[in-house]
Amino acid sequence: MSVLPFESLACPLDGMSLCREGKSWRCENGHSFDIARQGYVHLLPVQKKRSKDPGDSKAMVAARQRFLETGLYQPIADAVANATLKDVPAESTLRCLDAGCGEGYYLRQLGLAADGVDLSLLGLDISKWAVLSGARQDRRASWVVGSNANLPVLPGSLDRVLCLFGFPVYAEFARVLRPGGRLIQVDSGQDHLRELREIIYPEVRAESKKIAEAPEGFQRIASEDIRFPMHLAGAEPIADLLAMTPHLYRASQEGRERAAALDSLSLTVDVCLHTFEREP
Ligand SMILES: C[S@@+](CC[C@H](N)C(=O)[O-])C[C@H]1O[C@@H](n2cnc3c(N)ncnc32)[C@H](O)[C@@H]1O
Ligand SMILES: [Zn+2]
Repeated sequence: MSVLPFESLACPLDGMSLCREGKSWRCENGHSFDIARQGYVHLLPVQKKRSKDPGDSKAMVAARQRFLETGLYQPIADAVANATLKDVPAESTLRCLDAGCGEGYYLRQLGLAADGVDLSLLGLDISKWAVLSGARQDRRASWVVGSNANLPVLPGSLDRVLCLFGFPVYAEFARVLRPGGRLIQVDSGQDHLRELREIIYPEVRAESKKIAEAPEGFQRIASEDIRFPMHLAGAEPIADLLAMTPHLYRASQEGRERAAALDSLSLTVDVCLHTFEREP
């Protein structure tokens, strides 16, 4: 397996193809985007930025990285890699975008799982902290600060889009996937981290329901539930798990204090993985 350069970047201002020239990416209309020292490129136009520092903060990214490195979510990474590599002919090149990639854990795991298939990988996130962390850990993939709402990617140029615990924009995913290309989406199931939610909230709300139908332009290929128990030993992984989910911000002060007082916690992981295929 080798990781090949990603060659389908598009200018975020006019959609033209971007070509690498030295330390920048340029389009035919003269727009130019510098590649940062750490190897990523910023392709989020200022006018599309809703806040000064959009997406996950530096602290959230660091917490997610520490947590994922423990390997506790390995069964999810394995399922994502299996679904991504399914039906890919041997000795072909798979062009894959992780849309909302965070610090890049799932792309790194995909790189480890791909056997006999070449990969061309793009990690994109709206958080510059996430992309910076991804780029530092893996120089072989391409890394972009950008938004799912306006993907800086040429139409029909991808075989796979991953959207893991993220913010899907289906019209954009449909635009950048080739016909027959696939979207791999992972979302929390009803019981996901229930035991943590029971501690931090006075009343546990049901997590969002499973997606009932395939999004427009897609047909469902498969849906699978991934459920397993997880034991957190020590205050640090508990704090990291809380910090990498939306629960830290939603919980009350008392809820956060109850979680901070724990020194171990047994939890249910319950997520659903959907595979949707881009219609011709
Ligand atoms: C819950 S995290 C999941 C990260 C990663 N997929 C994982 O599972 O480790 C959601 C990510 O989406 C990013 N994000 C939020 N809005 C976004 C957007 N409009 N476009 C791209 N990424 C976005 C956040 O910065 C954050 O890194
Ligand atoms: Zn341009």
